[in-house]
Amino acid sequence: MDGGSENMATKRDIVGRILAGRGMKPGAAGCAFAPANIALVKYWGKRDEELNLPVTSSLSVSLGRLGSEVEIQPAGPADVVVLNGQELPPDSSFARRVSAYLDLFRPAGAGFRVDARNTIPTAAGFASSASGFAALVRALDQLFGWRLETRELSILARLGSGSACRSVYEGFVEWRAGEAADGMDSYAVPLAETWPDLRMGLVVISGEEKAVGSRAGMKRTVETSPLYRAWPAKVAADLPEVRAAIRERDFHRLGRAAESNALAMHATMIAAWPPVIYWKPESLAVMKRVAELRAQGLAVYFTMDAGPNLKLLFERKDEFALGAKFSGLQVVAPFGP
Ligand code: DP6
Repeated sequence: MDGGSENMATKRDIVGRILAGRGMKPGAAGCAFAPANIALVKYWGKRDEELNLPVTSSLSVSLGRLGSEVEIQPAGPADVVVLNGQELPPDSSFARRVSAYLDLFRPAGAGFRVDARNTIPTAAGFASSASGFAALVRALDQLFGWRLETRELSILARLGSGSACRSVYEGFVEWRAGEAADGMDSYAVPLAETWPDLRMGLVVISGEEKAVGSRAGMKRTVETSPLYRAWPAKVAADLPEVRAAIRERDFHRLGRAAESNALAMHATMIAAWPPVIYWKPESLAVMKRVAELRAQGLAVYFTMDAGPNLKLLFERKDEFALGAKFSGLQVVAPFGP
């Protein structure tokens, strides 16, 4: 980016623009749920760090009832952030991130109590910040009675965390990168298709907090990885593949594109300096196991984000077989009951 230019928009500018003419007097409480989402074509790298504007578009599937529920109430003067029933120290990284985000919306001197509950295993290292920020934005919308459009909620969620802009929808979701410097054309749109037999299996390898978060990991990759140059072309090839696979319900086509996209993303990170390696030996063992099972005729693929855990992709008919191969597999039906 061209740094230092006066017309670079800040988060506050964008919030001001979206909320123009809307009330800032909170009601009694706002409460909302948003699903977690897993990208099949990943978001990795920003063209603007202030506004979380991505270099490329991305495409995800939301995880149904697995996600975050957030309740927000005016309280004060200091914020109180409660996660899964436990009040967090105000200086913990999560509480600070939530408070910094609330600063964008807070009437002078007002504090909030935020109660967040994850139905996705936070401790197991599955992305909860996406569903958390999406649910928080919806809860704020309710608290203040703004009645924003979903496109606007998506933009506001993006300001909290890029991938959160996809969690304002269920099902398959595409985040269009957009081109505008202020990001008003960078938001998520839902795909019309559903896939009731699609399954995702969560393989937990470690719940430890990772040494390098996704934010720092993608920044380092963009700045130092010689392979990052190839990433936009990879995404440009994978997006139409995944869209077509969804449209035609072609599972192998979907799995191949998603797995290869995830591996390409990890390749860009591994080539960064210092290298960003999220894999543990057990992660690699699962990858190899997936390849073996596939060679034996089982239709299974994986995807993997900024952590050591894997998400398996398969169809309902193979749920039992895969449950037997991976003990403790948590199976999610994104379009299911
Ligand atoms: C690997 O959305 O967590 O999960 O925008 O800095 O908050 P920030 O990053 P974040 O990055 C997610 C990266 C990913 C891929 C994806 O979800 O598309």
